[in-house]
Amino acid sequence: MVMSKIITIAGQKGGTGKSITAVNLAASLALFEKNTLLIDCDPQGCSTRWCGIQGSDYNCDIASVLSGRAKVTDAIVKTQVNYLNMMPAGFNLFQAALKLAKNPGNEKILHLFLKDVEDKYEYIIIDSPSSYSFLSVMAMTAADWLLVCMSAHHNSVEDFHCLLRLVKYIRTTHNVPLKIAGLLFNRCETKEEIRSFIENQNLSDIKQMVYDAFIPEDDNIKRSIDLKIPVALHDIKSPAAEAYLSFAKEMHFFFN
Ligand SMILES: Nc1ncnc2c1ncn2[C@@H]1O[C@H](COP(=O)(O)OP(=O)(O)OP(=O)(O)O)[C@@H](O)[C@H]1O
Ligand SMILES: [Mg+2]
Repeated sequence: MVMSKIITIAGQKGGTGKSITAVNLAASLALFEKNTLLIDCDPQGCSTRWCGIQGSDYNCDIASVLSGRAKVTDAIVKTQVNYLNMMPAGFNLFQAALKLAKNPGNEKILHLFLKDVEDKYEYIIIDSPSSYSFLSVMAMTAADWLLVCMSAHHNSVEDFHCLLRLVKYIRTTHNVPLKIAGLLFNRCETKEEIRSFIENQNLSDIKQMVYDAFIPEDDNIKRSIDLKIPVALHDIKSPAAEAYLSFAKEMHFFFN
């Protein structure tokens, strides 16, 4: 029996590349024939759309599951990538979350629901929303691991320390062994850029947590978003596709 590695893509600042990383990491793992489930946990529904899934493609989504109207397996759809399934989200997740947030114990609800599928996938990747909200805490509580998405242009040491405080809160409040799987830098051109960011921000204690792979700024990302496909399906030789494939390989080694 496989036990999934459940990984939530975190980073509390908006626009650091969580959704684009969720889609392209999940697609890259699937291209390596790892059975993968991508869960959209953001009412913006970016990762759902960027995988080419539209409202007409499904009857049940994550909001249906969280509000008890559907089983987890009923809310999973196939994507155009073999080995990659997805649980979509849309705006109704916002309304479902407003109701659930009235009871703080509900933050553990996704963690409990995932028990139904965790022996079916090698990786479960969860795209979480920015900000300190019910949904981001729920997405982090559901995971064993957090992948922190950073941008040398958008992030600061304070962002990282706030995230660490949130991780500590989740571990103690919900009694889950949430761990940090590492930091991925996005929109970055060289290793030197990452090294000087870490030095300038006094983050040397996290140096060993930064992945060797990093994601460059690449217009192919924007094109793949317009085409609603992972970047590797648009152009497997593009810098972003190669970076996400190397990253998926590196992360797989980390876990095995
Ligand atoms: N490496 C990249 N190269 C080019 N464009 C990028 C790259 N990474 C992200 N982007 C652009 O930045 C935008 C924001 O990325 P994304 O939506 O993944 O961030 P996010 O952290 O999920 O944001 P939010 O907090 O709103 O959920 C994307 O629409 C994409 O156009
Ligand atoms: Mg996002």
